[in-house]
Amino acid sequence: MAEYMASSAYQAAVLEGTVGIIDLRLDTGTWRIAGRFPCFKGDSAIWIPFEPARGLKLVFGEGKVNHDVLDRLRGVESPALPRLYDVFDVDIEYTPPQGVPADEAGAASMPAVALVMENCQEGPRFYSSNCSVNFPHIEECVKEFARLQLVPIDDWTKLTNMVGGRVVDCQEFRHLPERYAFDDTGFDRPALKSYVDAFVDRINRHCVANGIKPSGPPTYQGFRFRSGYEIPGYSSDGLEYDSYRKLPFVPLQGVTGKRVLELGSNLGFFPFQAAIHGAAEVTGVELLEEEHGFARTLNERFFRFDNVEFLRADLLDFVAGVSKPYDLVLLLSVIHTVFPGYTQPELDAFFARMASITTSFCFETPVYYRLMPGGPEYVAQVLQRHFRVVRLVYVYKAYKMGQRAIFFCYS
Ligand SMILES: C[S@@+](CC[C@H](N)C(=O)[O-])C[C@H]1O[C@@H](n2cnc3c(N)ncnc32)[C@H](O)[C@@H]1O
Repeated sequence: MAEYMASSAYQAAVLEGTVGIIDLRLDTGTWRIAGRFPCFKGDSAIWIPFEPARGLKLVFGEGKVNHDVLDRLRGVESPALPRLYDVFDVDIEYTPPQGVPADEAGAASMPAVALVMENCQEGPRFYSSNCSVNFPHIEECVKEFARLQLVPIDDWTKLTNMVGGRVVDCQEFRHLPERYAFDDTGFDRPALKSYVDAFVDRINRHCVANGIKPSGPPTYQGFRFRSGYEIPGYSSDGLEYDSYRKLPFVPLQGVTGKRVLELGSNLGFFPFQAAIHGAAEVTGVELLEEEHGFARTLNERFFRFDNVEFLRADLLDFVAGVSKPYDLVLLLSVIHTVFPGYTQPELDAFFARMASITTSFCFETPVYYRLMPGGPEYVAQVLQRHFRVVRLVYVYKAYKMGQRAIFFCYS
């Protein structure tokens, strides 16, 4: 159906992973494209902007395209995503450049998925050299993911994945409504509500008895359910629960079939999210009895995930005893209370241990804050001593006195 003749420039581009020239002939009835075009090669796709407003993306490789999400996105107008006009399967007839024998040039024909998409135009970019995010577009994208109930690819904030503020690799997104509202259709809803009310009442009475002035609702993590019921949570901007606010920056797209650990798991929001995103085995470790009991009860009486466990332990003790490595460890807004300040040698020892027990690590910490006075650059330097890849994925205003930074690291 589609055919391209590889020029030698294109062949070089494929080999070097850069830009090339392509002779393309495509005739699907709807799309008739013929000519010589510049093309850009990514890890598993080639992008051919065949006209100023539109381009053709050829995606190679099994599992690199989620057809369900493409069906939903076709024709959708979104400031966060390129407009998708058409999707079809093609068999690429491949003509090797002159002088290259067919067997050396690779397969003469290969299947691909072709996407006709908006050719997003790159505007000015704002970023620091130490940062992978394109800040002006982030909030817009997050809103759009929630509106369309999407799970973005894990590295969606990487500069190369965003063109003109739009996330161009959306063919790998997933549609997962439960991410934005947990499915409570099978729950005993009155029992859930009375359990939460009793918890809130208990914590409130404890605070009054001990003269503690709460800075937010007694339930730190906010949960939303399909029925419309909500467990209210702490919101540092007064607009969104922090649990949902940090969710777009926690790499959950890739957890399918993986082992996930959260240290300081509070009411269990992120372990439950990992389970609905397809993790095989999830452990949440929480120090406080009430919070640990809440997460455990929520699972045993309502969610009933048999692959999620909640343990009551100090995270340092737990980490010291890990013998089987994890694929992903989450440590979100906890470490500043364990190691206040960044000067202690214990923190280096802790990150070294962390790098030895997990392949990937998602870390959130306050910055420019009383208990964590350094900025994101300083935290990145500390992490870089122990992790091969350290990527700052987001920074947001969280407390009156500081900001929070989220990092994603590979060991
Ligand atoms: C601010 S909350 C963050 C919860 C969750 N990680 C999130 O980002 O939504 C910190 C949680 O870590 C727990 N925590 C604090 N120190 C801990 C420790 N040493 N071991 C285990 N959990 C701890 C607290 O009890 C609390 O539930």
